[in-house]
Amino acid sequence: MVTNNNVLIEINSLKKYFPVRSGIFLRVKKYVRAVDGVDLVIKRNETLALVGESGCGKTTIGRTILHLTEPTDGEVVFEGKNLTNASKEELMQLRKGMQIVFQNPYTSLHPRKLVKDIVGEPLKIHTNLSSVEILNKVKETLESVGLREEHMYRYPHEFSGGQRQRIAVARAIILKPKFIVLDEPTSALDVSVQARILNLLNELKEELSLTYLFITHDLAVVDYMADRVAVMYLGKIVELGKKDDIFSKPTHPYTRVLEAAIPIPDPFFKKEKILPKGEVPDPANPPKGCRFHTRCDYSIDKCEKVEPVLENIEGEHYVACHRWREIYK
Ligand SMILES: Nc1ncnc2c1ncn2[C@@H]1O[C@H](COP(=O)(O)OP(=O)(O)OP(=O)(O)O)[C@@H](O)[C@H]1O
Ligand SMILES: [Mg+2]
Repeated sequence: MVTNNNVLIEINSLKKYFPVRSGIFLRVKKYVRAVDGVDLVIKRNETLALVGESGCGKTTIGRTILHLTEPTDGEVVFEGKNLTNASKEELMQLRKGMQIVFQNPYTSLHPRKLVKDIVGEPLKIHTNLSSVEILNKVKETLESVGLREEHMYRYPHEFSGGQRQRIAVARAIILKPKFIVLDEPTSALDVSVQARILNLLNELKEELSLTYLFITHDLAVVDYMADRVAVMYLGKIVELGKKDDIFSKPTHPYTRVLEAAIPIPDPFFKKEKILPKGEVPDPANPPKGCRFHTRCDYSIDKCEKVEPVLENIEGEHYVACHRWREIYK
């Protein structure tokens, strides 16, 4: 275990398998290996972006780190405290420091609760503040996310998507957490609104010394937000490094495909789109050896048999690929 003051969260061999039931007796026939052995360190005050195609396990990692879903195996250590064997009371205490903002602001806020109650709820659960004190804190917090006092007495449906996401952010920061999982927080929003929310998140990060795990499939957003990037494929991290290294020297063939697919804003510039060939394999039955070998142009015999582990390329840049020496130039 790394005991380093720069480390906020340490994730060791994390696994989350979901049972798949089928047949008339709904027996468990197989397991979706949503997260399949992830080791990751999240440093204090960084924004670590987690990217990958739909279904690769990004949300599951986020939820499992917070123990909103119990891991199947492995452990999560937050500021030196192991969440995995914490008691209910300890977990409750640790949760104050860790929050989440979900992708869809239309479904993540309780439709029949007033904004003051939605945003004030964590204070009600975790503190002994009086209702007047809670109201004051809610007002202050709403102001810090660009909303006003009058908004406290409205319901979620009276707000736009961007405003709803501000409400969700207010609820996430009201307990002054250290860590927030941002699960595609702007992907349901218009581009102009998206930029404002991203700016707000960056400002709050500075003001409150926050650490973010920023889940997204949008590499333009990664470029704007992230310090480091972890690339995920079928439940595993395949490449990890500083954003600049990942963008200037993408090394895993999967990362290269993702980067090649970033849209270019110039309509006259036609970029050749390289998409990974073939279908995304079944996460309940991932390919043997390297999980990407079925879609990879660099695949050799070894890739079909031996699972690659993350290897250090240079500095903080890691990749899980048998062919990285040929690719990395
Ligand atoms: N509660 C659940 N029960 C069963 N399977 C699940 C459950 N949650 C997720 N899965 C499966 O686990 C895999 C990973 O899902 P996850 O939601 O973590 O992916 P994701 O990377 O967040 O995708 P997206 O980009 O679409 O949000 C998928 O195959 C999904 O179908
Ligand atoms: Mg998701």
